[in-house]
Amino acid sequence: MSGEGQRLQKVLARAGVGSRRTVEEWISAGRISVNGSTARLGQRIDPASDVVELDGSRVPLGAELVHYLLNKPPGVVTSAADPEGRRTVLDIVDIPVRVWPVGRLDIDTEGALLLTNDGELTFRLTHPSYEVPKTYLADVAGALGARAVKELSRGVPLEDGMTKPAEATLIERSTGGSLVRLTITEGRNHQVKRMFDAVGHPVTRLVRIGVGPVSLGRLKPGTVRRLSMADVRALYRSCNL
Ligand code: URA
Repeated sequence: MSGEGQRLQKVLARAGVGSRRTVEEWISAGRISVNGSTARLGQRIDPASDVVELDGSRVPLGAELVHYLLNKPPGVVTSAADPEGRRTVLDIVDIPVRVWPVGRLDIDTEGALLLTNDGELTFRLTHPSYEVPKTYLADVAGALGARAVKELSRGVPLEDGMTKPAEATLIERSTGGSLVRLTITEGRNHQVKRMFDAVGHPVTRLVRIGVGPVSLGRLKPGTVRRLSMADVRALYRSCNL
């Protein structure tokens, strides 16, 4: 089939096999076949009738993509399995298809975590080049001054380089502690905690309240909600999908 159908890498990414980029690498490496012949990059297929294999085993196409938002409680690990046997985010939800978490929240961090089987969306939401904003509410030690807010906004030096400009808003301040809303477009390891450490105000509690256009709202800790079609489309737009 040529000229018609859908691009192979797009079909495979949509089926939750891997990101488009990963799939392209597999095609280039000759690991994918269509109807028994080694696939070519850019090849078009009909997902309803063509048989696609990865390393010789058939890939089910057309699986339904699902997207959930979890309000992650503290004390659970953001991974599909934990070698130390701790509870994971997948242990606490009841979702009938295989999903995985998009990115990571630290074990003590709470709030918005997407769970999905959408490989391309996962790739884009976690890749820094798409700059999808993530918003956090941070309780921090001490009274945060205007200078620290400015530093957080402009960028602070971390051991892996300056942070990109961010949006920092002081919500409450007292000598006992401050509450700050911080929106960042990167996702380095422990980034928010390291940013506040760098300005001398360690985080005492961290809650993610939004991922791109999707907000936590009133979702109860430990529960999930299936994203609406409008949410998913807004997420797609946020990363040019
Ligand atoms: N930044 C952090 O420091 N921790 C998180 O869990 C998320 C962002």
